[in-house]
Amino acid sequence: MPHVAVWIDEESNLAPQTVEEGSYHPGESEILVKVIYSSINPADLKHAVFSKGSRNTICGYEFSGIVEETGAGSKFKVGDKVFGTTPVDYTGKGRKPEWGGYQSRLVCPDVLAAHVPDSLPLSHAAGISLIARTMGDAMFNLFKFPFPPEDRPHAIGTPFLIWGGSSALGHMTIWVAKLLGLHPILTTASPHNAGRLKGAGATEVFDYHSDTVTADIRAYMDQYFDGRPIMQAFDAVSIPKPRHTVELVEDCCAPDAIILSAGRHPRHDGPFGEREYDWPILLPDGTLQVVRHKSDEGAAMQRRVVDWAAANYGWLWKLPPLKIVKGAQAGIEESKRVAFRGAGFEKVVVEHENAMKSLKANGW
Ligand SMILES: NC(=O)c1ccc[n+]([C@@H]2O[C@H](COP(=O)([O-])OP(=O)(O)OC[C@H]3O[C@@H](n4cnc5c(N)ncnc54)[C@H](OP(=O)(O)O)[C@@H]3O)[C@@H](O)[C@H]2O)c1
Repeated sequence: MPHVAVWIDEESNLAPQTVEEGSYHPGESEILVKVIYSSINPADLKHAVFSKGSRNTICGYEFSGIVEETGAGSKFKVGDKVFGTTPVDYTGKGRKPEWGGYQSRLVCPDVLAAHVPDSLPLSHAAGISLIARTMGDAMFNLFKFPFPPEDRPHAIGTPFLIWGGSSALGHMTIWVAKLLGLHPILTTASPHNAGRLKGAGATEVFDYHSDTVTADIRAYMDQYFDGRPIMQAFDAVSIPKPRHTVELVEDCCAPDAIILSAGRHPRHDGPFGEREYDWPILLPDGTLQVVRHKSDEGAAMQRRVVDWAAANYGWLWKLPPLKIVKGAQAGIEESKRVAFRGAGFEKVVVEHENAMKSLKANGW
C-alpha cells in the first residue's frame, strides 16, 4: 500500500505527499521500519532555513516502530521494536526521501537506531533519541563527565547552569546533572514549570522573562554559595533574540567558564545530535559547506547514552509530558508550533494511522 509522508517545500511549507509502495529498501547495515510514532523537533523546520539540502524533500527525523526488512549485515531482525533518528545528510546531495521521520515507513542506518526495551512505551521511545544523543554529546563527550552518570556521583559541589530547563533537551540534562552530583543545578524557565524542574533535580529555577534574570543568578550564588563562580554551563535552547541566550549565560559565569550552546555560536562549542557522519550543508546560494563533526569515539558514546536512556527511562529520568496527536495534518500544525514557538514543556509525537493495528499484528 502507498503511504503518506510529510514533505517540506522551498519556502519551508509542509504538506502530505503519497509515496508508492515498495519505494524504499534498506541498504547495507540499514533497516526498513514500519513507523508507529514520529516525534516532532525544532530541527525539522529549522534545518531548512540554512540548508538547501533540507528543502524540497522529506521532513522529520525521529521515530519508533517495528523492523520490516533488514539490509545485509544489519544487527536488527524483522519484528524488532526500534527507535532512532535518521540522518540529516551525509551525501552532500540533500536528504534522501527514505530518511523522513514523518512517514509511516522509513529507512534508518543501524548506527542511528536502537532496541526498545519492554519497559519503555513505544510512544515515549519516539522522542528520546535526538535529545539523548545531544545531551550525551554535551555532558560526556564535551564536558567529559563520567559515564554512566549514576555510577559515581561526581564533582559534588560543582555548580552547573542549564539555560532553558523546560526544553526537552534541558530537562534531560537536569536529570543527568543530578545523577552526576553537580550542585547547585541552576536553570531558567517560565515560573509555572519551576516545580516540575525542581522535581527533576534543579536546585533553583529563575524566570528567563525577567530583566534581572542574570543578576538574580549571580546574587543567588553570592548569597548561598559564597560567590562561587559558575565554571560550566549549557545553553539548552540557543535562542538568538532579543539577546542570544548563550550571551545571557556568559553574564552568569566566570570569564573562563566552559559554555556550550545547543545551536551554533561563534564563541562557543556545542553538541551535535549525531557524530556518525560529517554534515555537508548545501547553503541557500548553492555552495557546499562541510561541518566536520564525525568522531568514532564520540558516536560510540552517543550510542551508549541512547541505550542507557532507554534502559533507565521512567526510573532515572523521563521526558516532559507527552502530547500524542494523530495524523499528518495535526503533525504539520504541531511542527510549525514547536519550531517557531517552542514545545512548551511537552514532547509532541504523531501517532500514525493504524498504529495500534500494527502493534497488535506484531503481538504487542
Ligand atoms: N545541536 C544539535 O544537534 C541539537 C539537537 C537537538 C536539539 N537542538 C536544539 O536544542 C534546542 C532545544 O530543543 P528542544 O527540542 O529540547 O526544545 P523544546 O522542547 O521545543 O523547547 C521549548 C522550551 O524552551 C523554553 N524556552 C523558550 N525560550 C526560552 C528562553 N529564551 N530561555 C529559556 N528557555 C526558553 C520554553 O520554556 P518555558 O515553557 O518554561 O517557557 C519551552 O518550553 C533547540 O534550539 C534545538 O534546535 C540542537
